[in-house]
Amino acid sequence: MKAVVYKKPFEVAIENVDDPKINHPNDAIVRITSSCICGSDLHMYEGRTSAEPGIVFGHENMGIIEEVGPAVKERKVGDRVVMPFNVACGFCKNCLGGFTGFCTTVNPGFAGGAYGYVAMGPWVGGQAEYLQVPFADFNCLPLPKGKEHETDFSLLADIFPTGYHGAELAGVKPGESVAVFGAGPVGLMAAYSCIIRGAAEVYAIDHVKERLDKASGFGAIPINYDNADPVKQIKDLRGGNGVDKAIDAVGYQATSAGSSAAGGEQDEVPNIVLNQLIEIVNPTGALGIPGLYVPSDPGGVDENAKKGALSINFGRLFEKGLKLATGQCNVKNYNAYLRDLIIAERAKPSFVVSHEVSLEEAPDAYVKFDRREDGYTKVVIHP
Ligand SMILES: NC(=O)c1ccc[n+]([C@@H]2O[C@H](COP(=O)([O-])OP(=O)(O)OC[C@H]3O[C@@H](n4cnc5c(N)ncnc54)[C@H](O)[C@@H]3O)[C@@H](O)[C@H]2O)c1
Ligand SMILES: [Zn+2]
Ligand SMILES: [Zn+2]
Repeated sequence: MKAVVYKKPFEVAIENVDDPKINHPNDAIVRITSSCICGSDLHMYEGRTSAEPGIVFGHENMGIIEEVGPAVKERKVGDRVVMPFNVACGFCKNCLGGFTGFCTTVNPGFAGGAYGYVAMGPWVGGQAEYLQVPFADFNCLPLPKGKEHETDFSLLADIFPTGYHGAELAGVKPGESVAVFGAGPVGLMAAYSCIIRGAAEVYAIDHVKERLDKASGFGAIPINYDNADPVKQIKDLRGGNGVDKAIDAVGYQATSAGSSAAGGEQDEVPNIVLNQLIEIVNPTGALGIPGLYVPSDPGGVDENAKKGALSINFGRLFEKGLKLATGQCNVKNYNAYLRDLIIAERAKPSFVVSHEVSLEEAPDAYVKFDRREDGYTKVVIHP
């Protein structure tokens, strides 16, 4: 089958790879109808992880079940399904606790597995024609048959639940004020989720105009951090007051004001957003950090950053009595509920999707999405 294969930093290619097979009675093979490119893929694409050439990318996968192993009981051939980016067993201690992002079965020696991602186990990615899904009854979320809501549902694999997870990590409640750093797909979904959860005021901070416009589109207040320190901008708008909660949907490749919108290490300040979170939240508030931070970054700005050791103002965090929560999203906790919000037309996350492309067009889409070119917010590949 054809797949998106990582060749070297800033290069992916469409190549023929082995077709996936039923290796275990619990497996299913899914024919992919949609697989999205993620900001997390760009960390690997830019050579900013220990990913080796040859990885098939794609952890945001949706499609039709083509084949099931003999132990798969609930899912059937022909079912339309979307898979959490987390590969999980459903029976280890972490899965039983709801922490399917930290499954200890699927990636031995590590807590957490994913398709097509460095250090996340042997699972091949789904930016390809077919995908092997282990523990298929657990990992395949069934969807209504047909073609309706294709892009909305594809976002249930990662960014809609991950954005929602950001709001959950920060404990966003009705009536609260929230600052969401980053208006990439995850930040937009986090801000959107805060509004779904009843937040009164949501600030969206970025410097890509198109992304800030999308945030205003659903009622968030856009803050362009190229204009001035975003903490000051928000406090000025609130008569000197901070906010109840803040979410980091940027991660370790955060850039300083005025830097180019393109990815890359120049102008990178990996701790800038973490410290802004601590400053903008009022005493006793909470920080949710779904943005990715890594323990090993070959392109880190200094020796500490290369080891994932970042300097944050812990003294201020303590003084203000702030809560802080972070980590991979446990997609299974949210995906069925968010699916039902989509079916009930109470949520339409596909407003973030800017491009739908074929597999052949994916390498070009990577180049443009990586530059955060205006207009490239979220790309869905239809193999
Ligand atoms: N926790 C999880 O399970 C999980 C899942 C998916 C993605 N992620 C991570 O979430 C983060 C966001 O993902 P994405 O797909 O939206 O990525 P993205 O790269 O498309 O978006 C990041 C946005 O942050 C903006 N930005 C950069 N520096 C900033 C700053 N100083 N202040 C405010 N905004 C700034 C960029 O302009 C960009 O629009 C990434 O780190 C990704 O790896 C985590
Ligand atoms: Zn993703
Ligand atoms: Zn498990």
